[in-house]
Amino acid sequence: MNQHARIDSLPFIDVAAQRRRLGTRVDDAMRRVTDHCQFVNGPEVRELERVLSEFCGAKHAIGVASGTDALVLVLMARGIGRGDAVVCPSFTYAASPEAVALVGATPVFCEVDESTFNIDPVGIEGAVAAARGAGLRPKALMTVDLFGLPADYDAINPVAERFGLYVIDDAAQAFGADLKGRKLGTLAPVTTTSFFPAKPLGCYGDGGAVFTEDDELADVIRSLRNHGQGTDRYDNVRVGMTGRLDTIQAAVLIEKLKIFPEEIAARERIARRYNTALADVVGVPHLSNEHTCVWAQYTIRVSGGRRNKLADSLRAQGIPTAQYYPVPSHRQRAYRDYPVAEGGLAVTERLAGEVISLPMHAYLDEPTQDRIIAAVRGALRA
Ligand SMILES: Cc1ncc(COP(=O)(O)O)c(C=O)c1O
Repeated sequence: MNQHARIDSLPFIDVAAQRRRLGTRVDDAMRRVTDHCQFVNGPEVRELERVLSEFCGAKHAIGVASGTDALVLVLMARGIGRGDAVVCPSFTYAASPEAVALVGATPVFCEVDESTFNIDPVGIEGAVAAARGAGLRPKALMTVDLFGLPADYDAINPVAERFGLYVIDDAAQAFGADLKGRKLGTLAPVTTTSFFPAKPLGCYGDGGAVFTEDDELADVIRSLRNHGQGTDRYDNVRVGMTGRLDTIQAAVLIEKLKIFPEEIAARERIARRYNTALADVVGVPHLSNEHTCVWAQYTIRVSGGRRNKLADSLRAQGIPTAQYYPVPSHRQRAYRDYPVAEGGLAVTERLAGEVISLPMHAYLDEPTQDRIIAAVRGALRA
């Protein structure tokens, strides 16, 4: 007989709780697709695009196969390729620089801000200088709204304009957030997102979307996601790919989008509660009344090498944590030969050594939040 007391492990993101809340709605929506059998380009895809565009205010919403494909399709549509540089943060998920490298262009890594973890507008100039120094044409700036928080577009957009950089907002972690009342999807000339299941708005597999006001860009992306289709399926006017969103995923997302605003509000309440309870013992995330954050991750900073001790202590109490990202992109084997902004990436390096994310999802009740808070405080006191 096992003499050890069993500690229930909490989920890091509780997709099952959301499924319970949705009842049979998602299953019914999926069944409608399996009944009509239009698995690709079905009516749910067009309906999702309509409601997504209504939700965020962008003129065009284009469903695609993943957040990575969304970035690749945008870069392809802009004709960005060999000899071109795309400035992006190093402190991000691999997909951001990966999309740039996949189209043959060069990611140039720039610095992030110490308090928001998003691109530091002041660091863009150093990245442009590094790109030019490497003989590249700086073409675009890929902002990443890390952990659900919009980047500082009021400061970034004028700098991008000064250097002739086209802004691509990688909002894979932040779709649903807003800045001064405007939702992501409308803060840059083009925005992409991911519907990976763990994202704040996730589907039941892979999916993504592109948002823009630009009619011509939207037409090209719709063609590219469908093998460069022209007027009909046997008319190929450009080299494209299979980059479409599955109808079943669109059906799932239509149902999940209906409860998304309430989920965003719940996440915000939990984050504020975590912040209040933890601000005196760890570095807590940036809050402001000017933006909402969708809290893809609730990430604290723990200095002085105490991070692993905290993770171990929480794990022993059944509380999972995650470290996004312990090795920044410019130190990864796949990306370490790409240029880094002049002046280096000291903040990125520091953050990579200190960040740790706590469980965060809309269904985290107060007793569970309190259990997590007490465990963090206890571990740091020990
Ligand atoms: C910042 C960022 N960009 C792009 C992606 C890629 O999204 P997907 O996994 O849907 O391809 C992700 C996914 O985690 C991400 O976090």
